[in-house]
Amino acid sequence: MSENTKISIDNMNLHYGSFHALKGINMEIPEKEITAFIGPSGCGKSTLLKSLNRMNDLVEGCTITGKVELDGEDIYGDMDVNLLRKRVGMVFQKPNPFPMSIYDNIAYGPRTHGIRSKAKLDDIVEKSLRDAAIWDEVKDRLKKSALGMSGGQQQRLCIARALAVQPEVLLMDEPTSALDPISTSKIEDLAVELKKDYTIVMVTHNMQQATRISDKTAFFLLGEVVEFADTDKLFSMPADKRTEDYITGRFG
Ligand SMILES: Nc1ncnc2c1ncn2[C@@H]1O[C@H](COP(=O)(O)OP(=O)(O)OP(=O)(O)O)[C@@H](O)[C@H]1O
Ligand SMILES: [Mg+2]
Repeated sequence: MSENTKISIDNMNLHYGSFHALKGINMEIPEKEITAFIGPSGCGKSTLLKSLNRMNDLVEGCTITGKVELDGEDIYGDMDVNLLRKRVGMVFQKPNPFPMSIYDNIAYGPRTHGIRSKAKLDDIVEKSLRDAAIWDEVKDRLKKSALGMSGGQQQRLCIARALAVQPEVLLMDEPTSALDPISTSKIEDLAVELKKDYTIVMVTHNMQQATRISDKTAFFLLGEVVEFADTDKLFSMPADKRTEDYITGRFG
């Protein structure tokens, strides 16, 4: 394991029932960098992402072998799942704010972790919204429903909600695919800003996006990681013919 590894995946296999969805995955995800997952639809990107905070536990018939370690600790061992999900937060493709006020969306997580003080919650709400680059747009309407925000604002709210419990890792599954180009660019800038403090793993169908913001890229095909390398290298000098075919648009 290299020194700056945050998440280490060692010979991991995942089955949905009899379907072998992830095959012999080995990957070391570096701390405080952006790692992108790319590849055609159905190749297992979301499956691997969700495995990193055990979201697949909820899927009946899903079995996992091999090892996934967070800071050297086996996440499928004794680790408390709630604690794991606090350390490894997730943002989904479609913004999914809770049907409550902007303030309560952000305070929700900290409250469930036992924070009751109004002053403390106020601080967390402001800091999280600032860190997600949405504070200025919502500071005068914190008590209004989050459902009244634009899609791009809702997605930054969801990022703020993920940040509010002080995670170490942020998993993002195609966080900009439902957004317009301006909102997309805001989320990309935000991700680059956030990697100073957080380890980010992002699934994207947009290869330009991967080249713009990620440090490392993993190319998936049919449940395997074909190639995992520095993003510059993977896109300029892919080691595998299948990677080359995909990034040059010859299939996919
Ligand atoms: N809950 C599930 N039960 C059974 N099979 C599943 C389940 N979730 C995903 N799969 C299958 O596992 C494979 C990988 O799916 P996954 O969602 O990880 O792909 P993906 O790379 O994220 O695709 P996309 O780019 O379309 O989001 C697919 O064949 C999919 O049908
Ligand atoms: Mg997916």
